[in-house]
Amino acid sequence: MNVILIGFMGCGKSTVGIKLSYRLRRSLLDTDKIIEKEENRTISDIFVTDGEGYFRDLETQCLKKLIQTEKNQIISVGGGLPIRKENHTLLKELGTVVYLRAKPETIYERLKHDTTRPLLQGENPQEKIRTLMGQRAAIYEKTADVIIDVDVKDFDTILDEIVEKLKESSFLE
Ligand code: S3P
Repeated sequence: MNVILIGFMGCGKSTVGIKLSYRLRRSLLDTDKIIEKEENRTISDIFVTDGEGYFRDLETQCLKKLIQTEKNQIISVGGGLPIRKENHTLLKELGTVVYLRAKPETIYERLKHDTTRPLLQGENPQEKIRTLMGQRAAIYEKTADVIIDVDVKDFDTILDEIVEKLKESSFLE
């Protein structure tokens, strides 16, 4: 089974993904990186030129391809990917879903100087994070097989918790 990392922008999916891939000796894939490579441009460029809807279509296509090709990998997905209803079923088909849950304040502190997330480049990113989190939190929770609270924890603790919970639920041997 693949292990899929979901969660809001800035929750630590990329770093946790790298560390988990070493720990479990699996490769790491990232839907944002796959899309940027296939499109040969950044996520920001895609949003500016073709809009969010186009990007969301690319995410769904990417998931469908991963289901055909990947087994036993760590797959980190963009923060908005689980929100589309169709993607919920696809994620479940792709593997075991681990949700890295962070509070809006944690996200803001981590991303306040970030320029790579088009959805947070407006006037009031703090408010935008709160609004998006309000819309998304329940969906992340519903999609997850395992939930890990990541505020104030170091990466080793997060990793230990993930591995322990995956074993507990028999998702890992
Ligand atoms: C998005 C999250 C981003 C990226 C895009 C949209 C979102 O990925 O897919 O900017 O809607 O939350 P990360 O979660 O890896 O930052």
